[in-house]
Amino acid sequence: MDREKFRKYGYKLVDWVADYLETVEKYPVKSTVEPGEIKAKLPSSPPQHPEEMDRILEDFEKIIIPGITHWQHPGWFAYFPANNSPASILGELLAAGLGTQGMVWQTSPAATELEEVVMDWLRQMIGLPEGWAGVIQDTASTATLCALLAAREKVTGFKVNETGFEKPLRVYASREAHSSVEKGVKIAGFGRKNLVYIPVDDEFAMIPGELERAIEEDLRNGLQPACVVATVGTTSSGAVDPLRPIGEICQKYGVWLHVDAAYAGTAAILPEKRWALDGAELADSLVFNPHKWMLTNFDCSAFFVKDPQVLTRTFEIHPEYLKTGVDAVVKNFRDWGIQLGRRFRALKLWFVLRTYGVEGIKKIIRRHIHLAEIFRDELQQDGRFEIMAPVYFSLVCFRLKAGRPEEVLNELNRHLLERVNSTGKLFMTHTTLDGKYTLRLVVGQRTTEERHVRQALEIIKEKAGELLGSS
Ligand SMILES: Cc1ncc(COP(=O)(O)O)c(C=O)c1O
Repeated sequence: MDREKFRKYGYKLVDWVADYLETVEKYPVKSTVEPGEIKAKLPSSPPQHPEEMDRILEDFEKIIIPGITHWQHPGWFAYFPANNSPASILGELLAAGLGTQGMVWQTSPAATELEEVVMDWLRQMIGLPEGWAGVIQDTASTATLCALLAAREKVTGFKVNETGFEKPLRVYASREAHSSVEKGVKIAGFGRKNLVYIPVDDEFAMIPGELERAIEEDLRNGLQPACVVATVGTTSSGAVDPLRPIGEICQKYGVWLHVDAAYAGTAAILPEKRWALDGAELADSLVFNPHKWMLTNFDCSAFFVKDPQVLTRTFEIHPEYLKTGVDAVVKNFRDWGIQLGRRFRALKLWFVLRTYGVEGIKKIIRRHIHLAEIFRDELQQDGRFEIMAPVYFSLVCFRLKAGRPEEVLNELNRHLLERVNSTGKLFMTHTTLDGKYTLRLVVGQRTTEERHVRQALEIIKEKAGELLGSS
């Protein structure tokens, strides 16, 4: 593609994205294609000769768009959000244009130093102590894996890296912890059976006394506690493990505490929600995802550690071909995680933080929380619905009950979810809480307004009425 064509299509695609973001509401939120439908429309072998951009774009509209589930739709209430923003998209565009690969400082000093700066801004925003250092990882799953590996090395005096495991090391998390903990435990070699699930209380938060009991039992059995993963804002219900008592236990037994605040960490920038991270200073590491709720394109996960040296000793490698003359005085982020090559993610984050300012981001987060509260209150007033967990942030867990017997409720709510999602106006997902099929509605889309939440309420009530009438 020559320079003129690049300009032509560049302008065209920026226009396309701007129009898309403005009109995304016209699409059904969740793609309605059947499995295999997209693949069937694509050639099974690569094009041998150049194709015109116009044809590629035509196929993009015709083949790809129907298979897109629209995460930026204001009716997005599923999973957790992955919201973006025009500023972030532009930062991403520039990062692609620069095409840097920031494995070491000299491969783009600005990429490293901007990352140091924006991560320190985020540290201040969520109230972590000075001295903690941050690095951008692709996802919270990777950050949690890094924390598990660092914990493994710290507790063994960096021996597993050298000679492998000598004895089982134990990891503790509540049974509401995200599946990435189990995945990390498996990858890091602890073995799934060494992941100890700690019971939770009525609000789905880890019970610190149960954690201490499990650690003591392991010690009595000659097993070595290595890491506790506490969750702030669990995936199923938004529960908050109490970090202060958990942190005190971790300090007492010399166990690494990693905090997974993937979704709810963003809310900690609000003074009224900072309680959720109370005690975080007792932890050793923490992750939250600007790519979930802080207007930054996927992927961008903010990983913080209290003692960066443990992390870098865990990951450092020194092949001759990567050595530079400034290694002693700069950060080489290749030693702060798993991958060597690194995208310039700090750029989009910098764009977001500067265009919105902390106050602008706070306003959006507050609006989301307020809308979730409206949704919860309206459902409560309806009387046919049950709220299944406290609403601390912007996630509401609920089910249709309407006086029906317990044994029909799972099926009833499964049908309700199907009917609601089939309207295409909104997209919600589900979980189970205490074995009960539970619907989750999360407000986190940048453009979601009160009218979208009211429309969701209307549809949910209407479909509930239809179902109750027909069953
Ligand atoms: C609490 C929690 N931790 C971790 C993750 C994994 O996030 P990622 O996709 O960034 O790995 C999620 C995803 O929703 C989550 O809810």
